[in-house]
Amino acid sequence: MPVNNSFTLPDATEIPMKKNPLMVVRSKAELSALISNERCSGHRVGFVPTMGALHNGHLSLVALSREYCSRTVASIFVNPTQFAPGEDFDSYPRREDEDLEKLREAGCDFVYLPSPEDIYPTGHVTNVRVDALSDRLDGQFRPHFFYGVTTVVARLFIHVAPDLAVFGQKDFQQLQIIRKMVRDLGFPIEIIGAPTVRDQDGLAQSSRNEYLSQDERRRASAIQTGLYRAKKRLLMGADLNTCIQEARTLIASAGFDRIDYVSAVRNDDLVDLDPSEPIPEHSRLLAAAWLGKTRLIDNIALTGAA
Ligand code: PAJ
Repeated sequence: MPVNNSFTLPDATEIPMKKNPLMVVRSKAELSALISNERCSGHRVGFVPTMGALHNGHLSLVALSREYCSRTVASIFVNPTQFAPGEDFDSYPRREDEDLEKLREAGCDFVYLPSPEDIYPTGHVTNVRVDALSDRLDGQFRPHFFYGVTTVVARLFIHVAPDLAVFGQKDFQQLQIIRKMVRDLGFPIEIIGAPTVRDQDGLAQSSRNEYLSQDERRRASAIQTGLYRAKKRLLMGADLNTCIQEARTLIASAGFDRIDYVSAVRNDDLVDLDPSEPIPEHSRLLAAAWLGKTRLIDNIALTGAA
């Protein structure tokens, strides 16, 4: 089973000489002044948007931003518009002090903790929706979700005005939708996709993994195993639909309660692969499934590295 443990936080002694103190910014006005000052001083600004409850996956994005940019801004905002009524907005883990400590250790320069009013001014009616891509895969099961994501990310992009932003491949559909939004709206921002950071058993790290009971956690890595086996069989020439069915069976027999989808798609438009055609160069295998009350998603590249 492929386990991507290649990311380890750099030892404090390996962090470049400069380690600025983390500056905590709580208002849009203050952020704009600080960032335009950094840009006037010639700094390239990288941005890592998050909803907090930070783990090594998030911190790997900060590390990547620091490779490309001389200043890195992270944001923490649990965005209400991407949660439907009845989803976990209220119970989503919030632990600001711990998060700030992790960002400080990771060498992040600024953390933006906007107020809900800064993001959604009273009476706001302007939203951003990326058609087509947002309706596929997760969009079929969480129709509100990407609408909320693109609306908040567009606003954060305007507040931070970074040169570059890093998103995880863990949320592959989100990454592709953000890329499309940036192209369509002409944001002058380079988007970087970061590899998925996994636990030892292959489970992709996620803030929601902490909802899993011990027993569920033991079963959870089956989603990654199912995808990996399907990929292996597919590359050996097995039929696409058979491989997808085998992945579903493996995931279900590990004790997942419901499988929303297992799909093989083209990267750019997320359209299902044609089983009668050779596997295109840029394609991916994705899955979403429920373990008890927790919905897990994962994906792997069908061609090239996982
Ligand atoms: P959140 O789930 O906090 O994730 C923030 C970023 O971390 C996303 O780009 C996500 O893909 C990345 N990430 C999460 N787990 C990862 C892992 N195991 N390895 C690598 N990267 C990982 O995604 C969101 O927040 C929100 O939708 C947001 C974009 C902030 C908009 O509200």
